[in-house]
Amino acid sequence: MTATSHTVTDNDDVTVVTVDYDAIDYADCVSDDPEKRARFQKAVFRDFTERGWAVIEKTPLNEMFPVINDCAVRAHNLSGDVKKALKPELLNQHGFQNVGADKMGWRDVFGFLREQPAGVPPNVHAFRQPDDVDFDAYLPGVTAVMDEAAEKTEEIAANVLRAISVGLGEDQSFFDACMEYSFIDIRLNRYPPVEPKERILKHPDFGLVSVVLSEEPGLQVKIDDDHYGAVTPGAGGIVIFAAKALEIATAGLIKTLHHRVYVADPAAARRSVNIFVGGGDFAPMPFFGDKSSNPYLRECPHYDGMTPLLIAIAEWERFSKHNIDSIVEFDQKIRKRIEGRMAVGG
Ligand SMILES: [Fe+2]
Repeated sequence: MTATSHTVTDNDDVTVVTVDYDAIDYADCVSDDPEKRARFQKAVFRDFTERGWAVIEKTPLNEMFPVINDCAVRAHNLSGDVKKALKPELLNQHGFQNVGADKMGWRDVFGFLREQPAGVPPNVHAFRQPDDVDFDAYLPGVTAVMDEAAEKTEEIAANVLRAISVGLGEDQSFFDACMEYSFIDIRLNRYPPVEPKERILKHPDFGLVSVVLSEEPGLQVKIDDDHYGAVTPGAGGIVIFAAKALEIATAGLIKTLHHRVYVADPAAARRSVNIFVGGGDFAPMPFFGDKSSNPYLRECPHYDGMTPLLIAIAEWERFSKHNIDSIVEFDQKIRKRIEGRMAVGG
C-alpha cells in the first residue's frame, strides 16, 4: 500500500477551531425519573436543531468499546491475502473494502451489515447480507460482538429519535416503524499514516443518524463554510449526528451534518468505529409536515413512501451529478427490482 495513488486535493481549505460542548449523560435517558428523561430529550433536541450533532456519554456502546476495539485490531491485522479474499467485488458488499484510495479517501475498513428483519426481502439497493461472508472463520467471535453492537446502537438511536420526535411535537413513536426496518451498518476503520492530512473529504451521511466512536482525534464537524470543529469524546462517549434522511423527514428543521476526517500529523494513524443507522428500501419514512409545508416533498412529485428516493436524494447531494428526473428514474428502477424480487420470493 502506498500513498502515491492518492489523488485527493481538497485539503486545508478551512480553519479548524475548538468546539465546546456539554456531553449528555445516557443515564438520564434510562432513568426512572421522568424529569431526568425530559432533561435528556431536551438536550438532544437542542443539540440536533442547533448544530446537528451531540456527544452522549456512558452509552452501552461505550461499555462495549474494549471488545469492539479488539475486533477492529484483529480485523486490521489480518494478512493481506485474507483481506484480499474478503474484499468485495461490488460496491457496498461487506467484508474488507476501500483498501487503497477511492473518491472519498483512504482507509482499511471492515464492514458489517446487520440483517433486515425476518420476512423482509433483502435490501436490493446496494447491500449484501453478511451471511455471504464467513467472518467468524477469520475473526472468531466477531459476529456475536457486531450483533450486540448493532443492538446497542439501535437502542441508542431509537432513544435519540424519540427525543427528536417529542421536540417536534409528535408522538415519541414517530420514527419507531422506520427504525424497525432500518439497517445498522458498522464500519471498523483504520486510516493509515498518509498524506494528505484530510483522510475523508467533507461529506454528509445518507441515513437517519450516524454514530462515531473513537479514542483518537480526527473527526471534524462543519460549523460554517470556512470553519470545522474537532470533536473527540474518547472511549467514554459517542458522537451521534444527523444524516440526510433525518433532514428530509424533519422538513429541514434538523440539518444534515457535514463532516470530515482530518489528522494533522501525517505520520499518525487513526482507528474509529462508524455506524450508519436508518433508511433501508423497506423502511417506512415518517414525514414532518405535508406537501404544503415540507419543501423536500414539494420538490419530489413521487415521494409517497419512497425510501429509495430519499437515498437517491442523499446521493444526489453527495456527488452533485443528478437532477430530479434522474432521481425519479432511479426510484422507478429500484421499484421494478423490488417487484421482481417479491415475485420470485412469493
Ligand atoms: Fe460520514
